[in-house]
Amino acid sequence: MFEIKSQISKIKVDAESLIRSCENKNEIEQLRVRFLGKKGVVTALYKNLKDITPEQRPEVGDLINTLKDEVARELDCKQSFFLRESLRSRLVEEELDVTLPGKPVTLGRIHPITKVLQRVIDIFQALGFSVAEGPEIEKEYYNFDALNIPSHHPARDMQDTFFIDVGTLLRTHTSPVQIRVMENRKPPVRVIAPGRVYRNEAINARSYCLFHQVEGFYVDKHVTFADLKGILGHFSREMFGAKTAIRIRPSYFPFTEPSLECDVSCFLCSAKGCRVCKYTGWLEILGAGMIHPAVLKAGGFDPDEVQGYAFGMGIERTALLLYGINDIRLFFENDMRFLSQF
Ligand code: DAH
Repeated sequence: MFEIKSQISKIKVDAESLIRSCENKNEIEQLRVRFLGKKGVVTALYKNLKDITPEQRPEVGDLINTLKDEVARELDCKQSFFLRESLRSRLVEEELDVTLPGKPVTLGRIHPITKVLQRVIDIFQALGFSVAEGPEIEKEYYNFDALNIPSHHPARDMQDTFFIDVGTLLRTHTSPVQIRVMENRKPPVRVIAPGRVYRNEAINARSYCLFHQVEGFYVDKHVTFADLKGILGHFSREMFGAKTAIRIRPSYFPFTEPSLECDVSCFLCSAKGCRVCKYTGWLEILGAGMIHPAVLKAGGFDPDEVQGYAFGMGIERTALLLYGINDIRLFFENDMRFLSQF
């Protein structure tokens, strides 16, 4: 009896000192096995109960139970200490000072060319035109031949072309999209085709090796020159203001017959005459005409059944005028000092 009691208190002292000197969670687990596990020191004490007289057994049993509870409590206590420690060090590590000033987010801007392009698209979409795109690397056939510009036609000299290899080039205008759309659709078609075009030109304030165009065309039964005139007037008023007048001059393009150039009354000087309109009161904005029968045929349409009009305009030129910019190169330099003004 005395022996087992002193054994119990020795185990208690041992356990307490071992638990106190534990340094991490693993050591705690090892001690838990050593004292309370199936083959543990405390568990073994229960087996010794059979050597004790039945009268003394309850008292000793109580002592062992108490020892077991105490050791378990000490182990739990130390374990939660380690848990708190690791949480605390994580908190310190991940500490966020919410009072620090934030990092400023620099907002992008919509490029002035994109803005003007979008305005043109919006005006035509409201009239039922849909948007189509074609490849920038284009077949010579679509860029020239199908548009009634045969190999020796002087129009091929009018546009200096970047050839990629025989039969392939960087498109010089968005007109080839007309053919690509006609090949895949049946009339009526009402389409605008915005996009980049390329020309091998000297780079200066007025011209650049790439720029943007919007091509538009409508093919249906009974489309007339009056329809074309109507849409050009409507577009000009929407784009440049309700008081804008248009002037139509005869011109020549191989893919239209008849062809025209369209001017709008100068919105900078209210047509009184200024440096930009060269004191004429008019600004040239686009080329247009009735689609040439050969072009309709190339697109797979029957020129005896349907007619159409087409127009094409440069976006940079319009943007230069609208924003009062005097150098086209600014559009391509990506200088935030320029771009952030729009
Ligand atoms: N493709 C012409 C150019 O790049 C622009 C143009 C003129 C398009 C008349 C047309 C048109 O559709 O009818 O200069």
